[in-house]
Amino acid sequence: MNDKDVFIQVRDLTVTYHTRLGPVRAVNHVTFDVYRGEILGLVGESGCGKSTLGKALMRMIFKPAEISSGQIVFNGEDIMTYDQKRLRDFRGRVASMIFQDPMTSLNPVQRVDEHLMEAIEVHAQTKQSKGSLIEQITALIERLGIQSRRLSDYPHQLSGGMRQRVMVGLGLINNANLIIADEATTSLDVIVEAKLVDQLREIRDQYGVTILAITHNIALVAELADRLAVMYAGQMVEIGSVYQVFDQPLHPYTQGLLRSVPSIKLSDDEELYKMAGEPPNLTHPPSGCRFHPRCPHAMTICSQKDPDLLEAAPGHFVHCWLYQDHPDKETPTIEVKE
Ligand SMILES: Nc1ncnc2c1ncn2[C@@H]1O[C@H](COP(=O)(O)OP(=O)(O)OP(=O)(O)O)[C@@H](O)[C@H]1O
Ligand SMILES: [Mg+2]
Repeated sequence: MNDKDVFIQVRDLTVTYHTRLGPVRAVNHVTFDVYRGEILGLVGESGCGKSTLGKALMRMIFKPAEISSGQIVFNGEDIMTYDQKRLRDFRGRVASMIFQDPMTSLNPVQRVDEHLMEAIEVHAQTKQSKGSLIEQITALIERLGIQSRRLSDYPHQLSGGMRQRVMVGLGLINNANLIIADEATTSLDVIVEAKLVDQLREIRDQYGVTILAITHNIALVAELADRLAVMYAGQMVEIGSVYQVFDQPLHPYTQGLLRSVPSIKLSDDEELYKMAGEPPNLTHPPSGCRFHPRCPHAMTICSQKDPDLLEAAPGHFVHCWLYQDHPDKETPTIEVKE
């Protein structure tokens, strides 16, 4: 994979929900790139804005919510400027699946083969014979690890994992080049989830698609993803290769998060860490860096001014004052070894 091959550029993206209690900036000035063909894991506590960010990438943010600032650049064009027609086409190229619940996106009275054939026919330039259609969907479904006899099943007869793969199949027929896999809050059991990881990897390897994998499960995403993005309270606090983020987590939030995951505890004699405090209420977020009230290293500047996202080492970005010039003479700026 060529790391320089940028697929989607997200710049200064802000998404605001207008609620009775006031505006909630669930995604707050977020900037990052998605590389072509990568699996980018997106992690962070419940309510930090992961799903909102995923939806915003498809411009699936509807009133009373809005994308209140920023650009999402795809093929050199800002999708914020797309009209409805181009937007439909763009969304067709994104296969989005919510782990656990693809039932809502499949037609309950249509069999699997009907779903798939219909999708091929919509895209075909010329009319194809039934035989050729059946051949194509059989090959596709088998590549996705589903036995072809399942083609005559209705969606409710399939397992959750199979339904997700059918969704992926539909996306692939649409030439989807981005799959957004958003795990629902209550997670699947560990074995099913681990199987999904393998399948997502296979799909990426076979079809060269780009995958944004949104999950709570950091240990799992470590196995799945090439890069990891960490969100806290609507902000992107750190992003880098899985190796960089696990080996040298820079943001104090990431450091706490990793130390609180049982399976990636650094050594046996290390106590599992419980991060102090709670994530903020986003109707009244803390000033400056949103993590500062929970941060063991907070300085005066942290409550006053939000830091920039800084590239601390090549490809390793962090949103924290500790790594950039700050006025606190007591705390030295941290140099990051490459
Ligand atoms: N429709 C909505 N109206 C108002 N606020 C919303 C709405 N949807 C989400 N929010 C708020 O936006 C913030 C981010 O929500 P989001 O669902 O994106 O988080 P998440 O990281 O996906 O959480 P989870 O891990 O639980 O799925 C939360 O504070 C949530 O309360
Ligand atoms: Mg979510």
